[in-house]
Amino acid sequence: MSGTERPGRSGRPTLAVVGATGAVGTVMLQILSQRADVWGEIRLVASPRSAGRKLAVRGEEVEVVALTEEALDGVDVAMFDVPDEVAEQWAPVAAARGAVVVDNSGAFRMDPEVPLVVPEVNPHAVRMRSRGIVANPNCTTLSMIVTLGALHAEFGLRELVVSSYQAVSGAGHAGVRTLREQLALVAGTELGTSPGDVRRAVGDNTGPFPEPVALNVVPWAGSLREDGWSSEEMKVRDETRKILGLPALPVAVTCVRVPVVTAHSLTVHARFEGEVTVDEAREILATAPGVVLFDDPAAGEFPTPADVVGTDPTWVGRVRRALDDPTALELFVCGDNLRKGAALNSAQIAELVAAGS
Ligand SMILES: NC(=O)c1ccc[n+]([C@@H]2O[C@H](COP(=O)([O-])OP(=O)(O)OC[C@H]3O[C@@H](n4cnc5c(N)ncnc54)[C@H](OP(=O)(O)O)[C@@H]3O)[C@@H](O)[C@H]2O)c1
Repeated sequence: MSGTERPGRSGRPTLAVVGATGAVGTVMLQILSQRADVWGEIRLVASPRSAGRKLAVRGEEVEVVALTEEALDGVDVAMFDVPDEVAEQWAPVAAARGAVVVDNSGAFRMDPEVPLVVPEVNPHAVRMRSRGIVANPNCTTLSMIVTLGALHAEFGLRELVVSSYQAVSGAGHAGVRTLREQLALVAGTELGTSPGDVRRAVGDNTGPFPEPVALNVVPWAGSLREDGWSSEEMKVRDETRKILGLPALPVAVTCVRVPVVTAHSLTVHARFEGEVTVDEAREILATAPGVVLFDDPAAGEFPTPADVVGTDPTWVGRVRRALDDPTALELFVCGDNLRKGAALNSAQIAELVAAGS
């Protein structure tokens, strides 16, 4: 087997990273190299296209193997960082072979027999895995849910209105490649001054996005659902309800793609059971695990993707009480969609499982 296992690691659980070559997989290998090492062998798995490639994890070169039943043999925890259809087919295979699957795709998130886990918010749910699968929430939901979970625990959330400002890496390597190629076409030009000029310069090169994303914002993420909603918007609503255990929570959401490489941002209007004050909210956020309160507009301090990218916590700023509703708060949250929004949260779940949860 081509995974890594040193003598000191014998007796520890075997981890498979399925999708190790992707945008999330790449960050996962960095995170596994940085966090406390609880794993024995780490096996790297991807499509047959990548078999034989060597990737670094824990300071060692590991050969990627193709996803087959044999590649899942002897695996204790299998992280799936692959497209939905691949997870749908292969996660049950891994579970049937004895692995606990931690799935980053959207394939199982709303399955009532699959828990949707954020370790800072609902760690206990990890045990309710009757199918042997634990789901990791969508990156947009994850970029705000640790903050919301902390406020909900204290104030009782009653309604949510959010808009996202989503980075292109949320659409994987293809999204990042598309933005970089488009930026090369528009840099140093006068484009962006007449209708359709950016579109003409970019031509058909819109990659996973319906419109150019360079010099633009695109009010669309995912695929079309009923009544004009996007799949990403439905995920934010449905997953927030499931994680917080609030199945009837009113949620209004608009998802927007912006020309940022990595780190999603959201504006949040959250209404609670009773009156709230900014001081109370700041006190909660200042001590909530996984949250950094960065909120001093007078000093020019608020989170932005350019500062947040590459960091683990959810950053929160612009904390205000709603002007017309003493029970509501306005916030700006920002988190790395590939770290807490995907790989880090999966790694935390996998560690809970490895520790016996
Ligand atoms: N990007 C984000 O911010 C984010 C956040 C949360 C969740 N997610 C979810 O995480 C998953 C991965 O996303 P990503 O952005 O990392 O995508 P990506 O960059 O396109 O990577 C996809 C990965 O899946 C592998 N793969 C594709 N088809 C396969 C097959 N038939 N058998 C085995 N492996 C296969 C690819 O291997 P090859 O390199 O060999 O093709 C690659 O490692 C998706 O379900 C996505 O929705 C993404």
